[in-house]
Parts: sequence; C-alpha cells; structure tokens
Amino acid sequence: MTHTDNNTAAYCAIRTAWKNRELLFNASNSDAFRIFHGFEEGIEGVVIEKFGDVAVIQFTRDIRDISDDIIQALLDSFPFRLIVAKAHQSLKMKIKQRVFIVHERDPSDDYWAHEHNIHYKINPLAIHNCGLYLDARPVRQWIKANSQDRKVINLFSFTGSLGLAAMVGGAKSVTHLDKTVAMLPCLRENYKKNGLTFDNRDFVQGDIYRHLPRAVKAGRTFDGIILDPPPKVYKSGYARNKPQGQDFAQLVDICKQLLSPGGWLVAMFHRFEKTWDEFESEVIEASNNELTATERFTSETDFPESDMRNKLRVSVFFKHDKQSEKKQLE
Ligand SMILES: C[S@@+](CC[C@H](N)C(=O)[O-])C[C@H]1O[C@@H](n2cnc3c(N)ncnc32)[C@H](O)[C@@H]1O
Repeated sequence: MTHTDNNTAAYCAIRTAWKNRELLFNASNSDAFRIFHGFEEGIEGVVIEKFGDVAVIQFTRDIRDISDDIIQALLDSFPFRLIVAKAHQSLKMKIKQRVFIVHERDPSDDYWAHEHNIHYKINPLAIHNCGLYLDARPVRQWIKANSQDRKVINLFSFTGSLGLAAMVGGAKSVTHLDKTVAMLPCLRENYKKNGLTFDNRDFVQGDIYRHLPRAVKAGRTFDGIILDPPPKVYKSGYARNKPQGQDFAQLVDICKQLLSPGGWLVAMFHRFEKTWDEFESEVIEASNNELTATERFTSETDFPESDMRNKLRVSVFFKHDKQSEKKQLE
C-alpha cells in the first residue's frame, strides 16, 4: 500500500487509531471492528467502523472540510472495497441524502463480516445499523460458548446476530422475536451462509409484550434468554404498564417465568444514567430473586472510553435450580 504525506490532524488521528488497534486485529479472529472512536480519539462527532472490506463513517457534524483526509487515511490503512458515509439524523438532512458512497471498487451488493468463524451479512447502505453491533462482540462470543444443547430465545432479535452465535454454538433451537419482519431475509441469509437450516417457525414477528405472556400461558420454557431491549422501549398497547427505559422491570418479570431452572439470561444495558450495580439490582428484583448475576463484560478496546457509563454493559444471570441445589444439600 502506498502511503501519502498527509499530515493533517484528521489524517493522523485515524492512522494513529488504526495503529493502536493492530494488536487487537491480530489477536482477534475477526474482521469487523470500530476503527475510530472520534469522541476519545481526536475528532468529536466521527465514528468509523470496519466490516470486512467495508468502512462506514458515521458523523454528527459537518465533515466536508476533512472528508478527503478521512478517506485517504482509510485507504492508506486498508484496501477497502467500499466506504460509505452516514449522517446522523440530528443533522436534519433528507433521508435519501443521509447515506452515500464515497469510495467504491468492484461494486457488489454482497458484503459480509466475519467474527470468530461466523459470517454476518452486512447492509452498508442501511440508514441505521448495518446488521452487526460491534460493541456486542464479546456477548456473541459468550453466547456461542454457552449454548450447547440449549433452547434459546433471542428477544429484540433485529438481524439475529446474537441468536446466530447461539446456533453456531450448538443450541438445540433458537427462536428469534422481533416486531419487524424487515430483517427476516438477512436472518435467512445468515443461516444459509453459516450452513444452518432455517425453519419459518424460528422467527416470530410481533410485539414482545403480546408474545411473551402467550408463551408463558402455553407453558413454553427456554434454557437461555437473550434480552437486548433498545435504550427506550416504545409504548405498547399490550404492556401492563407504560415501558420505562429498557423496561427490565416488566420484561424480566415475564422472562423469569419462561426460563428453566439452571437457564441463563443475558441482559444488555444501554442507558447511561445508571450504574451497573443499579441495573443488576433492577433485574434481580424484577425476577423476585430467582436470578443471580454471575458474570459481567463490556465492549473491547476498539471502543476506548474514559467514562465507563458510555460503554455497553452486559450481565449474565442464572436461574436457581432449586431441586438440584436441594439434592446437593441432602
Ligand atoms: C437495537 S435492536 C436489537 C439489536 C439486536 N439484539 C442485535 O444484537 O443485533 C432493537 C430491535 O428491537 C425491536 N423492537 C423494539 N420494540 C419491540 C417490541 N415491543 N417487540 C418486539 N421487538 C421490538 C426493533 O424492531 C429492533 O429490531
């Protein structure tokens, strides 16, 4: 790769960020990373992610003055096939103008990211996330390592990436639930590319507040529950109370009835005003102390944050297996 003599602040910041991640790139069996976290690495309002040979630049400020430097720094770091720029909605640009291609070689509409031997389909031109949340990489790894022979439900499934990790990890079955059907083609392609068979019953479309109580009534149980609600769950006519924030109070109350003894629940905390302890207490309380927190993890070093509250926080909970605990005491 030929490197240029560009010494602008934006160029240098991105090249430095790339170099700072080389250890992670080499140690990790993946090709998808956040390669620039501008808030902490020198250009506020700019975040760049790499998905295989695609780079996505997201910005919350006008970047016209530095866009050439950014693109040059990216191409001097890696032979990207596609570079896409995405303006944040706060910039109030027309939807059609918010996402645009700034570099393209060998045009294609087939893009994939690879992480720990799993293929994930990427839609670089999607207005929001292109199919894989990179801060959740350690969650997918944990799920893959802890799903053998388990019946898992993936709530708020989106493209199904977390449930896909469970399937590859040997889950007996994974049910994906999301209120939108828009990601179903992507979910199907993900299964196919990973050599898995997809059954239409593996995906349930609908409001979680409608379907989970029905599943409880039908006596369904799962040995693993993936609970990743958006930062603000929308109001739902089926919810008993108006959802508050990620709404663990109501969601865990239902989930605890679906979880079999010895089963796990992985909860992802996205709100920044609470401490990790407060989140866990909320979940444990909502479970009526049936759940115990056993493990915590967060995003990796490609998300450098001096304030821990800005990072994704994830906790694993296990449901007490009272019968086997009793047997052990006898
Ligand atoms: C942030 S995404 C979840 C990301 C996903 N867990 C992953 O790792 O890729 C939030 C998803 O929740 C879904 N959603 C929001 N409210 C819902 C509800 N009441 N019932 C079912 N799905 C809902 C949205 O359609 C969206 O796909």
